[in-house]
Amino acid sequence: MAHIAIIGSGIAGLFAASQLADAGHDVTVVTKKRPKDSSTNWAQGGVAAILDKTNVEGMESHVQDTLRSGDGACDEAVVRSIISEAGDRIMDLIRIGVEFEKEDDGAYSFIREGGHSSKRILHAKDATGREIERALTAYARDHSKITLKPNTLAIDLIQRHHGRPEEGVAGVWCLDQDSQAVITLEADAIVLATGGVGRLWQQTTNPDVATGDGLAMAYRTGASVDNMAYIQFHPTALASSSPRPFLISEAVRGVGAVLLDDEGLAAWTRDFNVASEQGEATPSPAPYSFTLEHTSAGSLATRDIVARAIDQQMKKNGTSCVYLVTSHLDLPWQEKFPTIARRLAEEGLQLGRDPIPVVPAAHYMVGGVRVDDIGRAFLQGTTEPMPHLYAIGEVACTGMHGANRLASNSLLEAVVFAQRVAQHLIEFPPPTYEGSHPAWRADGLGALREHAPINHDRISLVRTMTEEVGIVRSNQRLKRAQRRLNLLQNEVDMMWRTARPTREIVELRNLCLIGQLVVEDALGQTENKGLHYNVDLLRDDTLG
Ligand code: FAD
Ligand code: SIN
Repeated sequence: MAHIAIIGSGIAGLFAASQLADAGHDVTVVTKKRPKDSSTNWAQGGVAAILDKTNVEGMESHVQDTLRSGDGACDEAVVRSIISEAGDRIMDLIRIGVEFEKEDDGAYSFIREGGHSSKRILHAKDATGREIERALTAYARDHSKITLKPNTLAIDLIQRHHGRPEEGVAGVWCLDQDSQAVITLEADAIVLATGGVGRLWQQTTNPDVATGDGLAMAYRTGASVDNMAYIQFHPTALASSSPRPFLISEAVRGVGAVLLDDEGLAAWTRDFNVASEQGEATPSPAPYSFTLEHTSAGSLATRDIVARAIDQQMKKNGTSCVYLVTSHLDLPWQEKFPTIARRLAEEGLQLGRDPIPVVPAAHYMVGGVRVDDIGRAFLQGTTEPMPHLYAIGEVACTGMHGANRLASNSLLEAVVFAQRVAQHLIEFPPPTYEGSHPAWRADGLGALREHAPINHDRISLVRTMTEEVGIVRSNQRLKRAQRRLNLLQNEVDMMWRTARPTREIVELRNLCLIGQLVVEDALGQTENKGLHYNVDLLRDDTLG
C-alpha cells in the first residue's frame, strides 16, 4: 500500500485521510499546531447542500446562486458536479460522526446566508466547523492507519529525480517544532490541505495558521497558481480592540439583521422611538440601510458587494465601523447563536439588543493551486498534472468559486475534492519512489542572532497589504505594494539563506511570496469582476 502525506488537519486534510485510511493506505497528517487549529474549526454558518438528489429545482437554484456570486467566472461544470455530490459527502460526514442540527420533527435544519435565494445551509448552531473538526479529529485519532503529527511545520516539497518539476514530488521537509530539527517525510504522494492566507491582512477572520504555506510551497516547486487577485473580505467581522479575530456569521443577517451606518442608525432609532411612543407599528431598519444605495438585495447581497459597500461608506463617513442591528427581531439568540452571543457578552454587547460594530476582514482565498477535477496540481504554464502532488480545500483553485465564493460553499468544495483525491489515489496508487531524498540544506546554517528583523518585516508586509491591496485597489497603490514587497523579498531571502528555519521565518517567506502573487495577478486584471475592484479600471470603463 502507498504511503500518503497530507499537510493540514482541517476538513480537507482529515476527510481525505479518513477515506484513504479506510481503504488501507498509510496516511501521515502533518499539522502546524494542534490538529484542531484550522479555519475549519472556526467556521460558523455551515455547509451549503441539497441532500435530496431528486430535488432538481433546489440543486439548480444552488447552481445559479453560485454562478451569480462568482460573477461569471465560475467553471459551470465544476459547480454542477460539486453540488450534485453534496448529499453523498454530507452522508459521509454524518457516518464519521458529525452531528448537524435538526428541527423538532427530526428533519435537518437549514439556514440562509448572503447570496443564497433559499435556506439550504446545514449547520450545528453557529459553530458548524467546530463540530466537523471534533468528529474528524476523533476519527483520525482512533484510526490505526492514520498518524497525526502535530507541531510539525511543512517547509518545502521534495522533488523527485534531480529537481525537475515534471517528475513530481517525493516528500516534504518539515520543522519539528518540539525539537527544532528539520525532518524528511518521505511519501509516494503529497496532498496539500493547508488552508488560506488571511494573515496577510491586519483585519482578518482567520486563525494564525493561515499563512499560505502550502500555496507558496507548491509555487516554488513548479505548480501553477490561479485567481490570486480574488481575496474575499467578509463584511462582518467584529470591530474590537481585542487582537482575537471574531466573525459575526452571515447567518445573523440570514435571520434578518440589517447593516446600518451611524446616520442610518440614528434615523431609524429616532423613528422607532417616535412610533413606539405613539403606539404605532415600529419601522423595520431595512429601508434605512446604506447597502440599498449599492444593491436592491441590501444587507444580504453577495459578499463582494456588501464588503465594498461597507468600505465605501466608512471612507465616506470617516468612521471605523458600521453596525449590525438585531434589536427589531424577536429570536432566541442565545439558543441559535450561542458562540456569537458569548463572545459579544465578553465585549459588553448583547445580541438582540445592542448594535454590533462590524468591519470587513480578509476571510477567504478564492484562488490557489490550480487543480484539475480530481485535485491534481498543474505544472506551471501547462495543463499537465504535476505527478503525485494534489491540493484540496482552501489552498486549491478548482474553478467553483469564480471571482467571489458564495457563502458556505467552501466546506462543501473541500469535502467533495478531498473525496475525489482519495478515490483517485485508491484506484491508482502511486508507485513507491525508489530514488534518494536530498538532505535538507540546513547543515552549517546558524541560528538567527535576533528575531526583531523578522517581526519588523512581517509588520511591514501586513501593513502594505492592508493599506495598498484591500477591497478597493488602484494601479498606483498596487505598484507601490509591488515595489515594497520586492524589497522585503530580498531581505527575507538573505535571512533565509543564512539562518536555520523557524516558524516565524518560514511563514514570513511564504506570506511575502503570496503577497507578490496577489499583487501581480491584481495588476494583470483587465476588468473589475467579483472581488477584484480597481478604481482605474472603473475609470477606463467609464471613459470607454
Ligand atoms: P483549514 O481548515 O484552514 O486547515 C488548514 C490546516 O493546514 C490547518 O490544520 C493548519 O494548521 C495546517 N497548515 C497550514 N500550513 C501548514 C504547514 N506549513 N505545515 C503543516 N500544517 C500546516 N466556509 C464555509 O463553507 N462555511 C462557513 O460557515 C465558514 N465559516 C467560516 C468562518 C471563519 C471564521 C473562517 C475563518 C472561515 C470560514 N469558512 C467557512 C471558510 C472555511 O472554514 C475554510 O475555507 C475551510 O475550513 C478550509 O478548510 P481546509 O481544510 O482547506 O483548511
Ligand atoms: C459565515 O458564517 O458568515 C461564514 C460563511 C462562509 O464563509 O462561508
